[in-house]
Amino acid sequence: MPVTALRGQIVYLDGNPFERDPQECLVHHPDGLVIMEAGRITAAGPYAETAPLLPAGVTPVHYPDQLIMPGMIDTHVHYPQLQMIGAYGAQLLEWLNTYTFVAEQQFADAAHAAMVAQVFLRELLRAGTTTAVVYCTVHPQSVEAFFAESARLNTRMIAGKVLMDRNAPAALLDTAQQGYDESAALIGRWHGQGRQLYCVTPRFAPTSSEAQLEAAGALLRDHPGVYLQTHLCENPAEVAWVRELFPARQSYLDVYDHAGLVGPRAVFGHAIHLHEGDFCTCHARGAALAFCPTSNLFLGSGLFRLAEAKDPRRPVRVGLGTDVGAGTSLSQLQSLNEAYKVTALAGGRLDAVRAFYLATLGGAEALYLDDRLGRVAPGYEADLIVLDPKATPLLAFRTGYCRDLTELLFTLMTMGDDRAIRATWVAGACLWDRDTGAWAMDSARRGQD
Ligand code: GUN
Ligand code: ZN
Repeated sequence: MPVTALRGQIVYLDGNPFERDPQECLVHHPDGLVIMEAGRITAAGPYAETAPLLPAGVTPVHYPDQLIMPGMIDTHVHYPQLQMIGAYGAQLLEWLNTYTFVAEQQFADAAHAAMVAQVFLRELLRAGTTTAVVYCTVHPQSVEAFFAESARLNTRMIAGKVLMDRNAPAALLDTAQQGYDESAALIGRWHGQGRQLYCVTPRFAPTSSEAQLEAAGALLRDHPGVYLQTHLCENPAEVAWVRELFPARQSYLDVYDHAGLVGPRAVFGHAIHLHEGDFCTCHARGAALAFCPTSNLFLGSGLFRLAEAKDPRRPVRVGLGTDVGAGTSLSQLQSLNEAYKVTALAGGRLDAVRAFYLATLGGAEALYLDDRLGRVAPGYEADLIVLDPKATPLLAFRTGYCRDLTELLFTLMTMGDDRAIRATWVAGACLWDRDTGAWAMDSARRGQD
């Protein structure tokens, strides 16, 4: 494993700015150096102090005036929906039937799944996201294809097979037992294999019987350390349907709680229409919510109440999700752009430090991975992005007027997108270089052929 190094402005969050003074949480080395070996950061800090640690013969890749930050984390995204992103005219339940369930049937074909997995992971890296929590489809081969491609790239991904045993087309249904068995086999093959982690994935309460939700709970009990993802309280018609389907439960969240699904490493997508009691339960159990602003706006689902979720009396872990294909961009900069507007509509403000926390360290904390992801610090996994404040002519003009780092970060999150990602480094290797358009793994693959 060669030693690699990057030089530029280092910026990251070293604490939770929802609980401490945001400025105190921000680390900034205007001329910084990161040294990486065997997939991890071995040293990071001011160039003058860190350069003596560079092994002889290692020349840092220099990104003058650009920002070296932790790779961003997407806590909720569907890779099979990339082919129908931006589909017109429907709210959640109609959108699922008209577009989503149609596209997902194609993933019975392993070759199609492999093709889309490759496009998706490349687009994710181009957007500056290095870790994501990903829904596959009901087909085990869709999971196989996804993890195989992620393993090739050596990206840290969390993914799982969708569980659905009712209220969807027959071609997309499994059964409680089949879902358990196929998930258990995939956990055995992939959980903890290199950087891959498994996520038990009941789609949402309307498409799983009580028996299937119980089976999902059994998967969590039988395989400690795996993740759980599902959708929660996204759309009013969906919430009303869940009330009809599960009349004995106190709330939508209680449906999942009853099955033993609400705990650490559980990630609930959307969580727009929650009650105070639901926030208290998530806080007490250590479960996380995925704030998906571009999706919530696109499907007209509602406005996530970030300030309420982060109430210091019972703060809930919150990550940021794109929720592509309901979300309209894989760029977490674009998610932050919309998150700011959603917060503004509620009379609040999402400052740049808190915003970048949500996209990096906050996501890592939501996933209980903050001991290895989300900081540019020794011992951390070497997943880094390089942000370019001059990525477009207008960005170059506007950022020329920024007076300090937080203004620069705010401008990047309101105006930035994949074009602002100058490079993406994964486990100490540069996989994406915007200016050469080169994918490192293509030359590696050519070498294998
Ligand atoms: N609820 C159940 N399935 C889905 C999905 O695929 N996308 C979104 N946004 N919500 C869902
Ligand atoms: Zn979703």
